[in-house]
This record gives sequence, structure tokens and C-alpha cells, in this order.
Amino acid sequence: MSDTTCGSTDESNSNCGGAETKATDGGAATENTSASSPACGASDSSGSSSCGTSKSGATDDKVGSTADDFDADPGRLFAVGLGPGQPEGMTQRAKATLLEAEHIVGYTTYIDLIPDAVTEAADELYDTPMCGEVSRTEEAVDRALAGNDVAIVGSGDPNVYALGGLALEIIESKGATASALDFEVVPGVPAAQSCAARVGAPLVNDSVSISLSDHLTPMADIESRLHAVAAEGFTIAIYNPWSRKRRENFETACEILLEHRPADTPVGVVHGAGRDDEAVEIVELGELKSLGETDLIDMTTTLLVGNEETYVWDGQMITPRGYESKYDY
Ligand SMILES: C[S@@+](CC[C@H](N)C(=O)[O-])C[C@H]1O[C@@H](n2cnc3c(N)ncnc32)[C@H](O)[C@@H]1O
Repeated sequence: MSDTTCGSTDESNSNCGGAETKATDGGAATENTSASSPACGASDSSGSSSCGTSKSGATDDKVGSTADDFDADPGRLFAVGLGPGQPEGMTQRAKATLLEAEHIVGYTTYIDLIPDAVTEAADELYDTPMCGEVSRTEEAVDRALAGNDVAIVGSGDPNVYALGGLALEIIESKGATASALDFEVVPGVPAAQSCAARVGAPLVNDSVSISLSDHLTPMADIESRLHAVAAEGFTIAIYNPWSRKRRENFETACEILLEHRPADTPVGVVHGAGRDDEAVEIVELGELKSLGETDLIDMTTTLLVGNEETYVWDGQMITPRGYESKYDY
């Protein structure tokens, strides 16, 4: 298995670089460990942690180590969703799991979102910049196979365009089992829900999430899915709406939506929900495309596109659930 192409992943504009294991108050690791230490795991960093090595371009597309390479009794592995970003947006269960984990592994931006009291309690933090999701996940699995209790973290929920599935796939590809690692997904609040909450109640009826990232899904498939869900009248949560490389995808998505929905359809635009740079606007679908050039829409923005019944009242987006057709109020 190999790593992803730098710049085509979903989360930030940061440059690719070596992984870093940070010292914590409770641990002694201080060195840069872009090549894994045997004590932590057996990832072959030459094969999987360098950015820009996509599967199509890789010469070695195998996971670097297998379960048989580890002698220790395995530790536990948790895929933990952090929620939108602020400490109070994290579930108690996620926090408790992180406090119990000996190693916490994640994309640097997400590790930075974890409260200091939690990261300081861990023996080791292993963070890598954007574009290392396969090698980072493999590192987490290897550390668990080496006998450590490990949490791999991500924003929102591990089941929403995130690493829950990748962790299981890597465990399987190493010849290990989920049960041997006591693997568990610890849910978090997904961006669709935390962003919906910022604009009122736009997702109350049937809704669908769709990601505009063509990093792993061909744009032609994304376009046909968007046509289908827009035509069916779902409210739509759009993840990964924008990147420098995906600006055409955003513009195409706006055009597709306008083929199926009136220009005055309300759209909630939520940037950085729960983070320091949070920005929220409710706009009309017809003006959405022009916002692509503004700071409001980037890789930490989620769009909430109303259905034909969605309306705006007193600054709140409302998608009726249908009570009004059955009850008087
Ligand atoms: C790779 S997906 C991860 C989704 C995450 N697992 C979840 O459950 O929300 C990244 C996308 O999630 C959305 N996102 C994540 N955090 C967000 C936040 N705090 N505010 C708005 N959108 C966010 C953005 O659309 C971003 O491009």
C-alpha cells in the first residue's frame, strides 16, 4: 500500500514534511521519527511516508510490515473522532479514550486541536502534515501491533470521509485482526452536524453528504451523484468544497445544483465551525459560485444546500420535517 499525492488530500495547504514524535511531559521521545523506531512500529518509511508517492507512481505498494513482524502482545487501537475543533465539542468518550491512549497519532492540525491536558498525558504524540494518511494510519497500526494502546485521531467522525475504514483495511492487509487489536471506532460530531447547528436546522429532513474531493473519487462520479441527490430533493451537505486544485469542481457543483434548484435556494456556508477562524453566512444558491474566490470557502468549509422547502426565518435556515402538514401550530 502506498501513500497519497501531496496537495491532493483534503485538509490544508501545509507542505509535506517528515513526521515528528514530540516529547510530552510524560514521555522522553524527542527525535524526529519520520523513520519509525523499532520500539514503536515497523513501518517502512521509505515505502509509504513520503508525500507525492501515489499508488500509480509507487514502486512498492505493499504495507511495510505484517503482523508476523511483531513479537509483543498487541495493544489496542482506537479511531477517535474529535468533533469540529473546540475542546467542548469533543465527546466525553473521545476525551476519555485519548486520556487512556499511550500514543496519539494524527495529522498535525488535528493533534493541535486536542486540549493540552490530554496530549500531555500521552507517552508519545506522532503527527505528520497533510498528505500522509496511509503512512500515518499504518504507523498507528504498527504501534498497536508493537504492544501500545494507540488512538488515531481525525476531525468530526471517523466514519465520515475519514480514517475509520482505512485503519481496518490496513489491519487486514497486515494479516492482523480487528479483534486482536480490540479495534474500536469512537464517534465524534461530524462537520455536517456541527455546521448545520451554526445556521439553524437545515438538515432536519432526509439529507445526503457528498464530497467534492476528486482525490480518491473520479469527478465524473461525483458529478453524477450530485445530479442524483439534487434531483431527488435531499438537503445536501457538501464536504471538501474547495481547493486551489479543485476550483473547477466547486464551480461545476454550483452549476449542477442550479440545474435542479432555484437560484434563491438557501445555502449555509460554514467555515471552521468551532475553530478560531469560524465564519458563517446564509446565502442564495445563485451567488454561491462567486464566493469561491473569497476566504469563506476553503478546505475547512462545509456547505449546506437547502431543498425546495428550506427557507430562512430570522437568520435561521429551516428545513421543515413535515409536522406542519399533520399538526396545527
Ligand atoms: C476529510 S473531511 C473530514 C470530515 C470529518 N471526518 C467529519 O466527520 O466532519 C474534511 C472536510 O470536512 C469539513 N470540515 C471539517 N471540519 C470542519 C469545520 N470545523 N468546519 C467546517 N467544515 C469542516 C470540510 O468540508 C473539510 O473539507
